[in-house]
Amino acid sequence: MTPPQNSREWNAADYHRLSAPQFQWGQRVLSQLRLRGDECLLDAGCGTGKLTRLVLENLPRGSVVGLDLSRNMVLHARQNLAPDFGDRVRFVAADLVALPFRNCFDGIFSTASFHWVLDHDALFRSLYQALCPAGWLHAQCGGGPNLARLRQRVRTLSQRPEFSNWLGKFSEPWFFSDAEGAAARLCAAGFENVETGLEEASFSVPSGQEFQQYLRTFVLHRHLDLLPTGALRAAFVQQASDISALDDPPWTLDYWRLNLRAHKPE
Ligand SMILES: C[S@@+](CC[C@H](N)C(=O)[O-])C[C@H]1O[C@@H](n2cnc3c(N)ncnc32)[C@H](O)[C@@H]1O
Repeated sequence: MTPPQNSREWNAADYHRLSAPQFQWGQRVLSQLRLRGDECLLDAGCGTGKLTRLVLENLPRGSVVGLDLSRNMVLHARQNLAPDFGDRVRFVAADLVALPFRNCFDGIFSTASFHWVLDHDALFRSLYQALCPAGWLHAQCGGGPNLARLRQRVRTLSQRPEFSNWLGKFSEPWFFSDAEGAAARLCAAGFENVETGLEEASFSVPSGQEFQQYLRTFVLHRHLDLLPTGALRAAFVQQASDISALDDPPWTLDYWRLNLRAHKPE
């Protein structure tokens, strides 16, 4: 099935408003970085720049390039951050598998983005090339059984007669690597001191309405892009929410995070 033209786009304003879980995950990853304060870093898949801002606040003499495939995200991030950080921050719309950088960065930080890239061999080669010798990668993304229960429900829903015309052959836009596979791919790209691990990160939202907003913005937007009417889109999200209302606790998102750390040799 051919993805629509806007398949790389996000609703940046909704993402910015609703991304508290992603922000909290990112804050934890950021708290593990040991920064000198003068590094030049890449925020790979920066979204609306909420975490890019925190990275910059930890780099009083350094600079950050925020990079994202979505132009909506890049515009939103630039508007928010450029007035506060001037030329210490730059934003670039580009694809992580074909980074327009060679030997440029002391470190690469990334959260909640790599699972949107299907080819992790190409991704890690691209990141490796962008790093300076002795540069580091510190990242977290979805991995392992991430959202396995919700995704199974959505696959079943997609086969219902009212949706199957458009979603019956839907191919998921994510790759959720396991820890061992990620380590092997990082080593194959040339990285050393590789450490990878999965952690459970599920959470529940308090109401069906919030769950539906969450699904629309973070999980099902590629599905919804393919449905031709607002009524069908609303019905799809409603039905996914109705099934998840039966969870204990209700409306639980069964998230798993994959942590990645590695270095480029000197
Ligand atoms: C869930 S958001 C995470 C944003 C931010 N890092 C955060 O934690 O809030 C995932 C981001 O990855 C970006 N992305 C997905 N595939 C990409 C690719 N191939 N190249 C660059 N960015 C990509 C999306 O456009 C989106 O902004």
